This record gives sequence, structure tokens and C-alpha cells, in this order.
Amino acid sequence: MTTINNNLTIGSIIVGTCDNLSHEGVGICHIPSENQLFTIFVENLLPSEKAQIKITKLTKNYGYGEIVSIYADTRSPLRSNPPCPSYAICGGCNIMHLNYQASLNFKKSMLTETLRKIGKLDNPNVQPVIGMDNPSYYRNKVQVPFQNESNKTICGFFARNTHQVIPLKECLIQPPISTEIVNFIKNLCNEFKIAGYNEQNQTGLIRHVLVRTNNDLSAIMIVLVLTQNNLPSKSQIISKIIKRYPNVSSIIINVNDQKTNTILGKNCYPIYGNDYIEDTLLGLKFRIGAKSFYQVNHVQTEKLYATALKLANLQKTDVLIDAYCGIGTIGLIASKMVKQVYAVEIVQEAIENAMINAKINKINNISFKCQKAEEQIIKWQKQNIKADAIVVDPPRKGCDEKLLATIIQMEIKKIIYISCDPATLARDLKYLTSKGYEIKIIQPVDMFPYTSNLETVVQLYRK
Ligand SMILES: C[S@@+](CC[C@H](N)C(=O)[O-])C[C@H]1O[C@@H](n2cnc3c(N)ncnc32)[C@H](O)[C@@H]1O
Repeated sequence: MTTINNNLTIGSIIVGTCDNLSHEGVGICHIPSENQLFTIFVENLLPSEKAQIKITKLTKNYGYGEIVSIYADTRSPLRSNPPCPSYAICGGCNIMHLNYQASLNFKKSMLTETLRKIGKLDNPNVQPVIGMDNPSYYRNKVQVPFQNESNKTICGFFARNTHQVIPLKECLIQPPISTEIVNFIKNLCNEFKIAGYNEQNQTGLIRHVLVRTNNDLSAIMIVLVLTQNNLPSKSQIISKIIKRYPNVSSIIINVNDQKTNTILGKNCYPIYGNDYIEDTLLGLKFRIGAKSFYQVNHVQTEKLYATALKLANLQKTDVLIDAYCGIGTIGLIASKMVKQVYAVEIVQEAIENAMINAKINKINNISFKCQKAEEQIIKWQKQNIKADAIVVDPPRKGCDEKLLATIIQMEIKKIIYISCDPATLARDLKYLTSKGYEIKIIQPVDMFPYTSNLETVVQLYRK
């Protein structure tokens, strides 16, 4: 070891003990410096571990460091050897160095703390996280960036906190066939001189490849995200893909010519097979378009939906609203338990999928609207629709306050809130509990093993 001191300069090596984990699973150390405690975030360090830490970045109020070595006698019993060879550099997973049960406990306490701090809930009764029996190869959607490096097209995930692509080898959270297909397409790009994208000067043709698989891998969708709708050697590329991977049922070009971090552009052009992929969930069939949302972890989605619908405690006479419905999954599964479902979603393609999904499953007691949920619910209120229950499943930014205010005005008895972001969930629960709703059950579900992301279902009743 070179230097050990508490002078906080970039490159200096200090000794610190991890007190806690941040919400992203990063170790937090408090280092005495100039008569006060200074916070240093250290990736991969676990609570109570003492380590020599190299300072890599400093701001006025906190800094970042990387582990040089952990004192062996302080090594956490919760530590596990990450099974992924790229874990140390890849930005995909961030808590693979915690054993799986410890990662579930971490998620539970992170959620509890967020509900206390942001939600101002005194004693949130968070249930143990519903885990996955085999938490690997679960992602049914993979989106891999393509770039240009020394006139070669490369692909892989971004290295942690950067846009630098690291080669895609084995990935433990997506099916091996998805990894294989992405690398196969990369090789085709080099064979047919299709240049990877350059973010700086926005040159090159191929920006991303998205692969979506159904649960039994009998159907595979490939989306080539290009800067323009012009794929050289298109028919040769298609036939090589199909010959090698006969289960590919759909190849689509998506055009994204904007300077943006958003992966998909506005327009899709199917070049082979269907413009959807079909999957089965809790006994129903669902068509999913390239731009439609679909939960990424099949096994856990069935547990999530079953939990949500059990908590909804639906009656045959109930009217249910499914807000942020995507391709209609929750509303359609719930439809046999209730009298009528009203569903709303903002993405046109998802609503088109949802309507077809109702047809192929022969479900007639559901109607879909393509609209902002916060606007559509006001229309339903004006139409005097009396809902007994509502499922809200918003994106990470949570529910629009207008939607929550209308739920309150409509006096909807039961709310099932499905959230993929504890912070916005806590904000919305604070609002709902201040306006007469009572939280009965908070049930987290591990949809994203090896990452710090968490899905939560909350059951609320109007007092
Ligand atoms: C987390 S997904 C849930 C989808 C669906 N419930 C499911 O489980 O598959 C959130 C959905 O909300 C949609 N969305 C985003 N903002 C919206 C808004 N303001 N109004 C309606 N839908 C919205 C997204 O397009 C996405 O389909």
C-alpha cells in the first residue's frame, strides 16, 4: 500500500469503515476531515467492512472512492463472489456482491427508510420482499448500445457511470440466446460494413439492438435502432439471422435520428415477420409491440400481478380502473373477477396491442383509452363512472397529482398502487394518506435481482 492518511485529495489513499448503503447499494463511509465527518461513497463496500480506499472524485460536500483492499477480518458475511465476469466494470447490475437474501433485506430496509423520510410514514409495515427462486437470466428485454471504434462496430453494456461500451460476454440477467443474437448482429454489421453510432458527432448507422423474448423462447423480436430507415444488404442480413435463429419471429427497424439518450425513436418499420411478439401471462395471451411496455421478468410479474389482484379483493359487481395499463395485462387478467374495467394508457401502440389482446382472449367487459391517465380519469368522473377500485402502475416519475386528486374526489374505495420507484411512491402515499386513505399492506416484489431497483405493491383503503 502506498500512502495511508486522511488528507482528502484525489488519488490519496485513506482508511474508512462502511456505515451504511446508499439507495443504489453504494457503501457510505464517514471520514474525519478538518474536524468534521466527510462522506465518501465507495462502490462494492458493505456495512461494517473496513478498507483502504483510493479517492477518485471530490466535491464540496462529499467524495467518491474505490476499494484498494478490504481488511480480511472485517469482510462482511453478507458478501458473495459476483458470478458475472464483467461485474466489476459493467453498469448493468450494482448489488451482485451482496448475497441474494441480503439483497432482499437491503431492498426492504431501503424502502422502509424512503417511506419514513419522504412519505413521512411513522412506522411503515413493509412485508419481506417476494424473491425469485432462481434469480438469473430473467430479463426478457435486452437493449444493447452499438458504437464505432477504430472503424469497427462494437457493442456491449456501458461501463459504470460512463457511455463507454464494454464487450458483451456472458450476461447473467438475460437469456444466453439474447446475448448470442446481439453479438451475431454485431458480426453481421462488421461483415456488411454497417457502422456503429458515434454519440459525439452523431455519425454511423446502428445505435442499439433490442431483443425481446417470450417466456419459453419460442418467439424472439429483434429491433435494429438505426439513424435512418436504410439498412444496406437488408435481405442478406435477414436471411442470415433467420437461418441461424429460426425462432426469430419479428425483425423491425426503428429510426432514431435525434441527439438523445432515449433508445427508441418514433417510427418502426417491420422488415420480417410480425410487428409484435406473443407471450402468455397467468393464462392469457398478450401481443407486445416494439414500443409497448411489458414487464421484464416473467416469473416475478406473475407473482406481482397475483399479489396486486389478491390485494384488490375484487367482487363480481365491481367496476375497476386500470390506470397506466400498457398492453392491458392487469385489466385483462382482472376482467373475469369484476363487472367492468376501464383502462387508460398514453402510448398508442400499447393501446392497439391492448385492444387486440382483449379480442384474442375473448374479453368484452373492458374498454381502453389512449390518453394521459390524469386527463382520462377526469372524463370518467364527468361521465359519472363509479369505480370501486383502481390499479395505478405509473412509470418511475409516479402519478400526476391531478390523477390522485380525482381518485379522492371520486371516493374510490380501494387503491392498488404498483410502483417501480420507492421515492415517488413515498411522495404519492404521503399525499393519499393526508387525504383520507389508509395504507393496509406494503408488499415489495423483486423484479430486478442483482440491481437495487425495486417494485412495490401497496393496498390502500378509503377511511
Ligand atoms: C410501469 S408501466 C405499467 C404498464 C402495465 N400496467 C404493465 O404492468 O405492463 C407504465 C405505463 O404507463 C404509461 N404511461 C406513462 N405516462 C402515462 C400517462 N401520463 N398516462 C397514461 N399512461 C402513461 C407508459 O407508457 C407505460 O406503459
